[in-house]
Amino acid sequence: MKLIKAVRGTKDIIEETAAKYSHIHRIAEDLFSAYGYSYIKTPIFEETDLFKRGIGEATDVVEKEMYTFLDRGERSITLRPEGTASVVRAYLENKIYAKEDISKFFYMGSMFRYERPQAGRQREFNQVGVEVLGEASPILDAEVIAMSYHLLEKLGITDLEVNINSVGENESRQKYRQALLNYLEPVKEHLCEDCKRRLETNPLRVLDCKVETCKKYTENTPSIIDSLSEAERNHYETVKKYLTLFGIPFVENPKLVRGLDYYSSTVFEIVTNKLGAQGTVLGGGRYDNLLKQLGDRETPAFGFAAGIERIMMLMDTIPSKETDIYVAWLGENTCDFAMKLTNILRKEGLKVAIDFNSKGMKSHMKKADKLNVNYTIIIGEDEMAKNIVVLKDFNARTQEELTIEELIKKLKK
Ligand code: HAM
Repeated sequence: MKLIKAVRGTKDIIEETAAKYSHIHRIAEDLFSAYGYSYIKTPIFEETDLFKRGIGEATDVVEKEMYTFLDRGERSITLRPEGTASVVRAYLENKIYAKEDISKFFYMGSMFRYERPQAGRQREFNQVGVEVLGEASPILDAEVIAMSYHLLEKLGITDLEVNINSVGENESRQKYRQALLNYLEPVKEHLCEDCKRRLETNPLRVLDCKVETCKKYTENTPSIIDSLSEAERNHYETVKKYLTLFGIPFVENPKLVRGLDYYSSTVFEIVTNKLGAQGTVLGGGRYDNLLKQLGDRETPAFGFAAGIERIMMLMDTIPSKETDIYVAWLGENTCDFAMKLTNILRKEGLKVAIDFNSKGMKSHMKKADKLNVNYTIIIGEDEMAKNIVVLKDFNARTQEELTIEELIKKLKK
């Protein structure tokens, strides 16, 4: 019988990667909560128009990467390629703006893009991200960038480079677009086929083409920073000032334009040189016009998303420690006593492992060693008769007899 395999571009998250995955979730949730963000979960599929209008028709994502299909009711549905448009839709639809001045959300989950799979690039991948709605201050931009950097630091990832830029508001972007076209039109013939097309649809995207000849011909293009208005330039300067104040090292990269159309003003990416072509670990920026585009509201916003698969590739192995305590019971008669005790300890919030089959001391110790626990509780018939247990502390290298109350008190400490 032919074994059915996972679909191309998708991967099981199992064993070591599963331990890393849940570790990332835990760290991200703790960090974002500490910064005052609350969890949001939006549906995995949406009306196709949400992404067309939100991300932009001329982007690679919308043009050629979306998983779009007609459902049984003939509606055009798309598996979400990213989280921002959905969070904005949920914010508008649920009128969250009427309840609070500023909303800070974090989310985690699968995204879908029909890309050519390679290391660090999948068709179903996972993101952890945040979106802040209702705040225009450049200090927010710097704070979110700093928080994203702290996230990677907390996960033990080093050798990162924070790249920042400003793509300005529509007016400045139009001005820059023209300056760029004037520069690139004469060398058009030397650009790749994709970039020739981009010159018509989205010339800024030529700046981050990875093809060597395109890179060469964009080396000395005019800088977008020169097209910014005074207000936009001040915003950008303030972001830089606060990044410095927060102790975040950064590099200004005037060619950073991002692949989604909703950005205005600050954009940023954190990159590494350890992942080959897929070196962007996370990215985001300000999208002050998206709420107008989707819901006719003047609400400024900023956010970022990180690729969990890329983070996992950069992380060292984390020792999985599901349990702290192992209960070893000796002889059939002690089984119920041991099960009851385990139940009590778990209700006290302790992480306890126990086996269901009777075994000898030697194999119990082997199991405790494999689980890498700090404590083993030993229950024999003598101990049970006296309503006590023996607690073996592997770190302190001690062994003592304790009543159940003493045991709980000690373990909870
Ligand atoms: P993005 O740059 O398209 O931004 O994606 C963010 C991150 O998701 C990337 O830096 C990368 O780590 C990861 N990623 C993207 N595509 C793939 C893939 N095919 N396989 C594996 N990982 C991938 C956004 O999605 C924006 N929504 C970010 C944002 C939030 N901007 C404002 N708020």
